[in-house]
Parts: sequence; C-alpha cells; structure tokens
Amino acid sequence: MNHIGSIGVLTSGGDSPGMNAAIRAVVRTCIFNGIPVFGIRRGYQGMIEGDIVPLKTTDVSGIIQRGGTMLKTARSKEFTTPEGMAKAYAQLQKHNIGALVLLGGDGTCRGAVKFFENHVIPAVAIPCTIDKDLVGTDLTIGFDTAVNTAVEAIDKIKDTAEAHDRVFVVEVMGRDAGYIALNSGIACGAEDTLIPEETTSMDSVLDRIAGDERRKKSVHIIVVAEGDELGGGKAVYEAIKERLPELDTRLCVLGHIQRGGSPTYADRVLASRLGYAAVTAILEGRTQTMAGVVNGEIVFTPLDKVVKGCTPIPRDMLDIIRVLSV
Ligand code: F6P
Repeated sequence: MNHIGSIGVLTSGGDSPGMNAAIRAVVRTCIFNGIPVFGIRRGYQGMIEGDIVPLKTTDVSGIIQRGGTMLKTARSKEFTTPEGMAKAYAQLQKHNIGALVLLGGDGTCRGAVKFFENHVIPAVAIPCTIDKDLVGTDLTIGFDTAVNTAVEAIDKIKDTAEAHDRVFVVEVMGRDAGYIALNSGIACGAEDTLIPEETTSMDSVLDRIAGDERRKKSVHIIVVAEGDELGGGKAVYEAIKERLPELDTRLCVLGHIQRGGSPTYADRVLASRLGYAAVTAILEGRTQTMAGVVNGEIVFTPLDKVVKGCTPIPRDMLDIIRVLSV
C-alpha cells in the first residue's frame, strides 16, 4: 500500500509538442511503481467538472510521436475563483487522488500556486510551453519542435523572397517571450529579429532595410515575435509599406502551426526524463516544485520561485543577429 493513493496528471494552458510523451512517462512511471494514475481531462476545468479517467499502460501506447495532448487542454476562468478551486479539490478527494503532476507553462504554475494557498496536495509541475519562458529550466517541452517548425517555414519563405527580391516580415509565436523569434532568426540568417524583451526602434529597422538595398542584398527577412511592443508582424509590415513603398514587402504569420506536429527527438527525450522525474520526486517527497533540466541535469525549483522569475535573453544572441547579417 503506498501513502499517496493515486496520482492525477493534467495538461493545461496552450498545448506543446511533447506533452503526450510526458503523459506517457508519468503514467508508466506510476504503473511501474504500483501507483494508480488518473488522467484529468481539459486541465483545471476538467478537474472542477470531475472529467477524470483511470489510465492504464495501453492507454498511452503509440502517443510518444504525436503532437497535441491526449488529455486535451483548456484555460479555466472558474479555477481562478475560490469556489472553482473548492470544487476541484472535492473532485480530487472523491477519486482518492493524493498527488498531482501538472503539465503546462507559467499560467499552469500560477494556478497551482494559488490552489495550494487553500488546499493541501503534493504536486510537481513539468514545463511544457513552446515559448520557453520559465525559470528553473534551460528547456521546456515543445520549444525545440516549435523552433524547428519555424525554421523550416522561414527557409521556404527565404527561397521565394530571394526569387522576387522581396522584403519579408515573418511573425512567429511568443506573446511575452522572444525565444522562438531569436532562435529561428539566428538559425535562418534573418536580417533583423524583433522581440518583446527589447524596445524596438522602427527607424533602425527601416535604416537597416535601406542599407541592405544600397548594398544590393536581394533578400531581407525580419522575424517578429507576436508580442513585440510595436504590435507584432502586421504593424511592422505596415510601417515598412508606408515608409518604403518602393519595396516589394510581404507578411507571413506562422501562427499555430508552431504548436502542432510530431515532437522532435529532443522534446520526446526531455518529456520522458521530466515525466519520470516528476513521479519520482512525488515518491521522494520533493513536491510543490517544477522539474526542469539545467546543464543537462534534472533540477527541482520551488513553484513560487518559478512564478516570480523571469528569464533574461542572452545578450550575445541579440548582438549576433546584427553582426552576422552585415
Ligand atoms: O503560450 C504559448 C502560445 O503559443 C503563445 O506563444 C501564444 O501567444 C499563445 O500561446 C496563443 O494562445 P491561443 O492558442 O490561446 O491563441
């Protein structure tokens, strides 16, 4: 007889490729250790509504390579209220769920920290977000896949941009974080990358395009994170059209294609390691933490520290976009 009862696993917030691989790892590590495991469908909203199903090892067969999440996901307004949280807690008790594994990003961790203020339940979070905007981990599940998707798309855009001597503004995801923009921008040799963490000067963007024109650079790719304070790709595109109307400029918004698709090997391995680590941490009592990877090693960071932290962008990554597109 274990002291935990059952473990519940859920996915919450925006999905990310690799969530299924993490669910598989959580379920199978539980089963290996003789602990019953429940899937809580549609995140915190499903917890409130009691949308909770037992999971066996065969329920997670054949999902390691699939994007999305077999447990579905949601963003729940009701869970932000004391009444919603009380209903959710009652459902956990009804199912004898004595610990939780929470898969999601900063919103998921924030929700958990609020929940623990009034309800006692051991929990470990696993960082799943394409944005990679969480402290306590060098990587988040889904980031590698999303960047690879963006790179593949931008490479294709570059072919057609070059054929027509066009300026292309490519908007990538990242409401508050520029990691996808920076990494895909560097990997594709973009001429400029605009991100929320840095103030953007439209004048300097335009000067650089004009400079490239004089140097007869035939293609100019500007990667813009959707949360850039100028207003994302559309605003940048419109400013270029207005101020440099002689140029042939196009906009491409990559959007949700970055959130779907089969996870890369790196995301599958990360998900497997963190799913295993989260259940092991619960068994060892290292809870109210997030399992992450720092310098290749598994580390556990207290959840209240995770929600207060912010991840600084490495200065060299900002600089080399400019230097390498000279
Ligand atoms: O948090 C991941 C993310 O993909 C952000 O990059 C993006 O701004 C947001 O989710 C989009 O959310 P939704 O799918 O609700 O439009």
